[in-house]
Amino acid sequence: MSGEWRTDPDDWEAQDDHPVLRSSEGHWLSLTRRGVLKGGLGLAAVFVGGCAVTGGARPRIGFTPLPAQTDPGFDAVRVPAGYRAVPFYSWGDPIDAEAPRWRADAGNDWHDQLRQAGDNHDGMHYFPFADNPNGHGLLVINHEKVATDFLHPRGATVLHDEQGRPRRPDEEVNKELAAHGVSVIEIAKDRDGQWRRIMTSSYNRRISGLTPMILSGPAAGAEAMRTASDPTGRRVIGTFANCALGYTPWGTYLACEENWPNYFVNRDAEDYQRRPQQARYRLSQGERSNYYLWETAQSRFDATPDRSLPHQGEVNEPNRFGWVVEIDPFDPDSTPVKRTAMGRLVRECATPSLADDGRMAFYFGDDTRGEYIYKFVPRDRYRADDPAANRELLDHGTLYVAVFHDDGRGEWRPLRHGQGPLNAANGFPDQAAVLINARGAADLLGATRMDRPEWVAVRPGSREVYVTLTNNDERGVDDGQPVNAANPRPRNLHGQILRWRERDNDPAATVFDWELFLLAGYPAGGEAPAHQWGTIQGDVFSSPDGLWFDPAGRLWIETDYDDESPDHQAMGTNQLLCADPDSGEVRRFLVGPRGCEITGITGTPDGRTLWVNVQHPGISYPASDGHTRPRSTTVLITRDDGGEIGT
Ligand code: FEO
Ligand code: CA
Ligand code: CA
Repeated sequence: MSGEWRTDPDDWEAQDDHPVLRSSEGHWLSLTRRGVLKGGLGLAAVFVGGCAVTGGARPRIGFTPLPAQTDPGFDAVRVPAGYRAVPFYSWGDPIDAEAPRWRADAGNDWHDQLRQAGDNHDGMHYFPFADNPNGHGLLVINHEKVATDFLHPRGATVLHDEQGRPRRPDEEVNKELAAHGVSVIEIAKDRDGQWRRIMTSSYNRRISGLTPMILSGPAAGAEAMRTASDPTGRRVIGTFANCALGYTPWGTYLACEENWPNYFVNRDAEDYQRRPQQARYRLSQGERSNYYLWETAQSRFDATPDRSLPHQGEVNEPNRFGWVVEIDPFDPDSTPVKRTAMGRLVRECATPSLADDGRMAFYFGDDTRGEYIYKFVPRDRYRADDPAANRELLDHGTLYVAVFHDDGRGEWRPLRHGQGPLNAANGFPDQAAVLINARGAADLLGATRMDRPEWVAVRPGSREVYVTLTNNDERGVDDGQPVNAANPRPRNLHGQILRWRERDNDPAATVFDWELFLLAGYPAGGEAPAHQWGTIQGDVFSSPDGLWFDPAGRLWIETDYDDESPDHQAMGTNQLLCADPDSGEVRRFLVGPRGCEITGITGTPDGRTLWVNVQHPGISYPASDGHTRPRSTTVLITRDDGGEIGT
């Protein structure tokens, strides 16, 4: 017996924790509920997004905003008059001059895919070379997930054995693993001032779900990190579900592991309930993993305990995901490192904030309904003059979780073993246990349940922190998530952006003051139901997700909602907006093709080049010919007159 199952990017629900697969007949599947600067020396000179590059002067926004794109067949990227947006790096593009070309029939095998751009481009960062920062750099791009409908010639194949149990072909699973992860590409402006990839560069690199990595920090080597395949608990294969990102002043990239609980299954229901590091993170339960059924081809994705094997087989394998993965893009031979001191989350991002004296924080959203906002404060200060010391900064420090009081005050409470309720009697015998079940530790500390925290952005100069809370249809409905000042709307369909200021603008402060920046949604008093009313001054949008400050202090907002749902019709396709953080004015800058999410954003220090990702377009972008399979794509945005973008 064999059956063919298809996935369609149009069917990915806009909410990351409940993605969807659908059969080719359209039935919902029960089994898938839906200058060469080695070491980064000198890069600190152009570190933007957290240190005082500019004085926080009021940014200028000068373009004519676009109307919402409501055409059901829209299959392009549009930007305002005077700007151009061109496809720059698409799924399947060769990673270097030797790699195979993309085949329009998706006939590339998994070996090819390992040497081609991955799928579903997400967070990214531009690392400039110090000798030509605005014309030469490395672009590092996450590939969050795969659109199996397009990745394989005829969609995902699910075979069945004699007992009717599903099985995925190993070739397809390997291709899916190879299409996840990260790309590093070297880019430069040519003599005509046009950005080009340098195809012969030795920096060009793919990191994937098949790349060997190491675990470091307090949880590395702990019993809960050991498996039959890796009795050391210090070596792990691959990263995936890399959504948003972070970066460091010492020139490394931080890929974050987001929706990993959907890639593993524990089929033993009683055992599952006894393991908070599985149950609290909603690892797939029942017979199958929520996403791609990799466990039917590769046993490490089957987290059902096998007591006949050392460390009960692969039951601990999911504990080795959910971390920050530090990658040195300037050393193509380096081994990525999962930094366990930063805690295990369904982690959206790891946004840095750097004080003048070297104190730092990294901010994290845990993107599931009702989850928390965290930060990590390294024990030691960043030292521009000591690259070797910076290499270990992320292994020592304190993880905090945020409490948002209704009166506008906020607190950071430390997840520190031996302090307060974090002791053996409560299931936390050591710091490794605290980090592996950070959610459970945060529960005991009384953290505030938020409306799906996504990206964090730090305003240049002031170090004010902004976070997108994308939406949460359980707010005010689920007993544990009453409406509160920070999450003020029941059945929150459109999300909000909240901001705070740390005491004395110190990234390491333990208290802060917060306020809402805006509530997304339709204008108050209009036709939409009242719980969908927002406070936007300007162009309407829903479900803010990507968030980034450009070097001049303009706030860029990217959206991720279901552009086919009735609640979003008037907003059109997903979009990129530009906001003035002082006046609150919002203008629509870019509209994407039908079916896509707009995510990932980075640019040059001079503000004249911007890159944005179009993730899972639905029709045929970037070919836009109506029949070529669509490809997730990094888009290059410049101004016709070469000027600063957004002014
Ligand atoms: Fe992958 Fe929460 O966005
Ligand atoms: Ca996201
Ligand atoms: Ca999202």
